[in-house]
Amino acid sequence: MTIYSKIIGTGRYLPEKILTNKDLEKIVDTNDQWIQERTGIKQRHIAADGQYTSDLAYNASIKALEAADIQASDLDMIIVGTTTPDLIFPSTACLLQSKLGCPGIGAFDVNAACSGFIYALSVADKYIKSGSHKRILVVGAETLTRIVNWEDRTTAVLFGDGAGAVVLEASKEQGILSTHIHANGDHADLLTTNKGPSRGMDDSQTGPIAIMMKGNAVFKVAVKTLGSIVDETLEHNNLEKSDIDWLVPHQANLRIITATARKLKMDMNQVIVTVDQTGNTSAASVPMALDYGIRSGKIKKGQTVLLEAFGGGFTWGSALLKL
Ligand code: COA
Repeated sequence: MTIYSKIIGTGRYLPEKILTNKDLEKIVDTNDQWIQERTGIKQRHIAADGQYTSDLAYNASIKALEAADIQASDLDMIIVGTTTPDLIFPSTACLLQSKLGCPGIGAFDVNAACSGFIYALSVADKYIKSGSHKRILVVGAETLTRIVNWEDRTTAVLFGDGAGAVVLEASKEQGILSTHIHANGDHADLLTTNKGPSRGMDDSQTGPIAIMMKGNAVFKVAVKTLGSIVDETLEHNNLEKSDIDWLVPHQANLRIITATARKLKMDMNQVIVTVDQTGNTSAASVPMALDYGIRSGKIKKGQTVLLEAFGGGFTWGSALLKL
């Protein structure tokens, strides 16, 4: 008998503080019109002082556990996709586990930048399908604004903070149909940070830690790559484009989302879009968009949903599921 991983609950959390494009006009040489036209972003949320990635993850997880109607003690693994952990170690998953109060179960982070949640979901799916685990909490959580250079207008306008979570449960009913992950480290320099623990963290050399991106080059690769992952996912499942009810894409740029929808011949009213409200929240973006889609009543039980993401590494991936 085939065992599927079924999503039985989702949750999301956005910090209270909102930074609008107008607010950004006072910080860098930019304007609301440019940001909206080039990215679709209107605002982003910013974590409060003293509020860390594990706190955002905790708030999203509590909502996902409530929706699933289970306790943290019912979980048997926690996986967190993040590229902005609270600390280098312990992992954000361990800090989250302590906050949730479920010691003993395996807990670890996955770093695949903006594809982090899809990567984490694919790992969780394999554990459940193998029969070794029954209920896994999978989270995407980020405080990306902590590593933004607020003087660099080409990146400062793009990113935001947030967290999304799903509870996966072993089921006889169809759930995740397939996951697909890829990477190409040859393009590491197009989207990266200026420093890290092993290369040296000395601020006097390179300034504070910051995201660095060659946006235009990233844009072109992202559009092409997301097109191919969509094809791969459909072919693997022997499905047609018209079989997909909803696209839940990584929320980096509305123009990238629109291009992927066009490739799928999907109307934009079958695509979940949250980038206008959140900016690019990296690994948090797909689970937050999924939660929004479900809680707003757009995505319904039994529908076929395609999740996809692309990010630094480069990494990219997809998951096709029946809700
Ligand atoms: N406000 C106003 N002008 C800005 C600006 C800002 N925040 N940022 C850049 N510009 C200017 C540039 O300096 C440039 O001016 P110039 O023509 O006088 O040189 C002009 O706008 C166009 O810049 P360009 O970088 O070519 O714009 P773009 O259309 O490629 O849009 C991004 C920039 C970053 C929005 C876009 O490339 C993008 O979204 N890339 C992918 C990002 C992404 O998805 N990253 C994460 C993957 S997970």
